[in-house]
Amino acid sequence: MTHSLRIPDLTIPVRPGALRPGGVGPGDAGDPAVNDVDVIRVRGDARLAGTVHVVGAKNSALKLMAAALLAPGRSVITNVPRITDIAIMGEVLRRLGCGIRFDADDPVDPMVAHGGVARSRSVVIDVPEQPGTEADYDLVRRLRASICVLGPLLARLGYVRVAHPGGDAIGSRGLDMHISGLTRMGAEISGEHGFVIASAPHGLHGAEIMLDFPSVGATENLVMAAVLARGASVIDNAAREPEIVDICTMLNQMGARISGAGTSTLHIEGVPGLQPVRHATVGDRIVAGTWAFGAAMTRGDVTVTGVEPGFLEVALDKLVSAGGLVETRGDAFRVRMDDRPKAVDVVTLPYPGFATDLLPMAIGLAAVSDGASLITENIFDGRFMFANEMMRLGADIKTDGHHAVVRGRERLSGAPVRATDIRAGAGLIIAGLCAEGVTEVSHVHHVDRGYPDFAADLRALGVEVEPGTAPEEPDLTI
Ligand code: EPU
Repeated sequence: MTHSLRIPDLTIPVRPGALRPGGVGPGDAGDPAVNDVDVIRVRGDARLAGTVHVVGAKNSALKLMAAALLAPGRSVITNVPRITDIAIMGEVLRRLGCGIRFDADDPVDPMVAHGGVARSRSVVIDVPEQPGTEADYDLVRRLRASICVLGPLLARLGYVRVAHPGGDAIGSRGLDMHISGLTRMGAEISGEHGFVIASAPHGLHGAEIMLDFPSVGATENLVMAAVLARGASVIDNAAREPEIVDICTMLNQMGARISGAGTSTLHIEGVPGLQPVRHATVGDRIVAGTWAFGAAMTRGDVTVTGVEPGFLEVALDKLVSAGGLVETRGDAFRVRMDDRPKAVDVVTLPYPGFATDLLPMAIGLAAVSDGASLITENIFDGRFMFANEMMRLGADIKTDGHHAVVRGRERLSGAPVRATDIRAGAGLIIAGLCAEGVTEVSHVHHVDRGYPDFAADLRALGVEVEPGTAPEEPDLTI
């Protein structure tokens, strides 16, 4: 079944290009026309200061929405960020036959009390007895995370067909661990015409699975499958991210029997059925980390609320090594940097290591630090692609395989640059705050995919931001 592009109920600001096929802006699909692209302009020599509240994590909420598929009836997920990716996930579920409604969040996020627009909502999901079994390419290519409907639909219905998401701007992004784990549970999986087709005519059974790598997505898909499988499963070398703990907590509230969440070994006793649930999304550690690095890079003073600081232990420790002052309390922390940061080395690793999603911020910090930093990326093979854009701002970066040597400069130099993915976009905007003159970051719809109203948060932290559009020249490369 194919659908035309229609994403209803998008009560969030959507920039030009945000919902085009491929989730990329005009020109990317070989469109020779000159179109407007979405941009954010920031003035350099800026300092971030004030308080920012962070709402629920994109990378949790997306999977919590998929997990709702496991139980017929009405589930409600609160503290869901108002971002494009969530709207697309809503559409994925709607096309699977679910009723989807976005309501005002309860409790309302504190930025609203200060006159801001809500950054979060609640999503009410009505799951039918017999959901659909197909997620088509039209949506999956715009939201790679749609692959997380594979596990729950297979477990509930015994058959599912999900478009293969392919790679993206940060890397090749395999699915082998999802597939081999589900196969161990008794699924038959084939690939045809760009789809992953999985069936388990006799139902899934428990299995012992050792992941080659603690993949977040594979752990989530396998847990969502194992909760309804016959018998016990063990997932070893499982991902330990706070988002994994969040989904396991929700599944247990639905009646699943999972233990070991947050450790490398998950034990799951299959149950015959689950009940719908109301669950609040865990705070977004990557958004929180973005502001923490922003404070350090701009020699600012930012308090971040809404996230357990322990989720960012390694990242905050790096900021202390760079000369920052970090205070933590409850679900808040404050980062202050008075002098030019000192260069620090960073190695990305699965949680609890330094998050790959903060790599652009680590490179940005290194670019303005005193000294040279060695930055090593261990998760995605294409994550350094955005470094070319950072170099346009004058950053001194040399990459070699999965390493980058960054020699810090006192100041960067404002220029037009292009956001290539969510985190690169945020990193470039913040780097622009440390540059002389104006930086214009284009294709910022990528940023809207993961940060609810980034521009408003920047303004709340005292920075001049001008969102707008700019004409894009046709791409004439062959
Ligand atoms: N991988 C395989 N085979 C698999 C699964 C993964 O080779 O079967 C590889 C991937 O190609 C990648 C690495 O393993 O090189 C890590 O992949 P993982 O499965 O852990 O990541 P993911 O589930 O695809 C999630 C987040 C990413 C985040 C990573 C790592 C979501 C929707 N995405 O991706 O977030 O970087 O975990 O923490 O949860 C972002 O938010 O901007 C983002 C990219």
